[in-house]
Amino acid sequence: MIFSVYVLIILVTVFCEPLCRSLPAWLLLSHTWLVDDYHGVKVPDPYSWLEDPDSEKTQAFVNSQNQLTLPFLEQCEVRDLFKERMTELYDYPKYSCPFKRGSRYFHFYNTGLQNQSVMYVQESLDAEPTVFLDPNKFSDDGTVALRGYAFSEDGEYLAYGTSASGSDWVEIHFLRVEGAASLDDHLERVKFSCMSWTHDGKGLFYNSYPEQEGKSDGTETSTNLHQKLYFHVLGTPQSEDVLCAEFPDYPKWMCGAEVSDDGRYVLLSIREGCDPVNRLWYCDLQTTLQGITGLLPWVKLIDNFDAEYDYVTNEGTLFTFKTNLDAPRYRLLNIDFASPDQSSWTELIPQHDKDVIVFATCTFSSYLFVCFLHDVKNILKMYRLSSGEELRTFPLDVGSVVGFTGRKRDSEIFYYFTSFLSPAVIYHCDLTKEPLQPHIFREVTVKGFNPSDYQTTQIFFPSKDGTQIPMFVVHKKGIKLDGSHPGFLYGYGGFNISITPSYSVSRLIFVRHLGGVLAVANIRGGGEYGETWHKAGMLASKQNCFTDFQCAAEYLIKEGYTSPSKLTINGGSNGGLLVAACVNQRPELFGCAVAQVGVMDMLKFHKFTIGHAWTTDFGCSENKEQFDWLIKYSPLHNIRIPEGNGVQYPSVLLLTGDHDDRVVPLHSLKYIATLQHIVGRSPKQTNPLFILVDTKSGHGAGKPTSKVIQEVADTYAFIARCLSLSWVK
Ligand SMILES: *[C@@H]1O[C@H](CO)[C@@H](O)[C@H](O)[C@H]1NC(C)=O
Ligand SMILES: *[C@@H]1O[C@H](CO)[C@@H](O)[C@H](O)[C@H]1NC(C)=O
Repeated sequence: MIFSVYVLIILVTVFCEPLCRSLPAWLLLSHTWLVDDYHGVKVPDPYSWLEDPDSEKTQAFVNSQNQLTLPFLEQCEVRDLFKERMTELYDYPKYSCPFKRGSRYFHFYNTGLQNQSVMYVQESLDAEPTVFLDPNKFSDDGTVALRGYAFSEDGEYLAYGTSASGSDWVEIHFLRVEGAASLDDHLERVKFSCMSWTHDGKGLFYNSYPEQEGKSDGTETSTNLHQKLYFHVLGTPQSEDVLCAEFPDYPKWMCGAEVSDDGRYVLLSIREGCDPVNRLWYCDLQTTLQGITGLLPWVKLIDNFDAEYDYVTNEGTLFTFKTNLDAPRYRLLNIDFASPDQSSWTELIPQHDKDVIVFATCTFSSYLFVCFLHDVKNILKMYRLSSGEELRTFPLDVGSVVGFTGRKRDSEIFYYFTSFLSPAVIYHCDLTKEPLQPHIFREVTVKGFNPSDYQTTQIFFPSKDGTQIPMFVVHKKGIKLDGSHPGFLYGYGGFNISITPSYSVSRLIFVRHLGGVLAVANIRGGGEYGETWHKAGMLASKQNCFTDFQCAAEYLIKEGYTSPSKLTINGGSNGGLLVAACVNQRPELFGCAVAQVGVMDMLKFHKFTIGHAWTTDFGCSENKEQFDWLIKYSPLHNIRIPEGNGVQYPSVLLLTGDHDDRVVPLHSLKYIATLQHIVGRSPKQTNPLFILVDTKSGHGAGKPTSKVIQEVADTYAFIARCLSLSWVK
């Protein structure tokens, strides 16, 4: 275990100490600031004062940065045009897949521009839907969002989470479904939580964190450790909730409970970070005769972090899991709890030679629906649960399955298809009617935008080491590839996250009205080709993500899609790190860079909120070898005036929010301060280096539509002004 060694960094305030030679010269200026000692290497941290979000100095810094950025954006005429067109094109109806709970159907619906989507209920699929839960009523300005929900087994109760200003902190509330009547039950200090009811309807498993010093509204930076699992009994105060699992010796462990389809077992999945691996403990509720009254007698079926075990379903003691054990592209495995020895495990669906299993779900008792990723496009197949026999493939266009509903007790499925040029097709398939025939339940079109004027192509380009990297390119049909078009290149590259085709109105406006070429590069670090692809872009190999992204840019330039001075790169969170690292490494390759909510200080990220969970992808500066990887690319620590005549940094815009407690804003604040200090002062730097810090805004989840529209208008206004793009009517 790697716990217990926490504070290895020695903070020393020095006066003009000799510094490591590899560091930029400006850091040698005599001044008093923090210098951290990492394994004998002294690394100054002159802007560490920006780590205190509440100090007057930090707040003054944020205000003056915004006052610099906003007038620049306001002076761009594309800003209003973009906002107006976005408001017009985004105003299309947005539906989720319907899902059945008890005897009723529910779905989410947004008329178009509502700040938050509304949950509707209907007695049957043909009945008139009525509003069931309207998150727009949670606040006046739309900044309180729904974050997670769970219906009781009989569908008569709903537990739902709310989060304010985009923070990860959640409060759980309860409703009686009949009449949507609020109950008094109320749970606080909830974060990264499961929500799972016992089938008797008595209560709900959820996670919370111990009380902490100071505020917890999402603007604090304090670390989140010692998450616990509780059982809340409906009708009782939270103070009486039953502690069901805790790990006092392992402060980083987080767990989620899931009640099995038959209601008999609670499965506990324990993680210590973001890697796709978990311990799998369970409890047979029939052995807890007194009910749930204390720490549960967990059976430790899997008690290591070697692989991921994702519960699919069970028939009695025979459990089906989706796993990456000896299968980087995942397979389905049966484990009989009555003879749990690994030698008795059997394979239900083997790993495919190329395609990755994304999810598997059991519907109508005897079927398995398995969604695959095939060269970054989804495939949906149906199997027999008892034998693993493949029954059929459901036809899909090139794109993504982003919604699927249909549980073991249901006799129908709904699935949601989307792609670059198609906002939504929701399919319905009644599993009781042979031959099975999925039909279009709902198809959404966006008026004022004709998809047949555009084309999507998937290309493969070689990275520096020869690895073929997939990339989607979207542009108007028939354009000349003469390098004259503005390019917008997006990437993420990390945490096993696959960037599959998605519909984005703002990017299509860029293509349509700024004459642009959109490119989405599926660089390493993601899950596009399974765990191998993820591992090839993490820890000591993290540089592969940046190299792949730079090769994507070079390919687009070489093929005439765009040129360096017209190319914007964009990414958020881990993708913000990607953008900033690439800008440091290849400033001449890009004209503009927009990094949202990025991780910029790779030496300290693990100290704030949930940052410690990312050491699985990044490593941690407290370890000497890992420090050596991190210092080489950490955006904050690799800012230098570019060499070469006339070479400067691209125009840079950082975006963050005051309530981002996933990637705390100090990353972006320290990075922009350093960038402006080193690069901004150089006479050859004429491109702007800006940051915009939004208020009542977080990492992205639950952002109200009004803020989303403003953010994209600001982003593309910046791009248009910096790259001198004009609006094409
Ligand atoms: C969304 O919220 C903003 C305030 O944040 C408000 O001005 C706007 O009217 C709301 N939009 C809708 C459609 O209610
Ligand atoms: C990792 O990605 C694979 C493929 O998309 C998926 O099956 C798996 O559930 C993911 N694991 C995690 C922890 O996200």
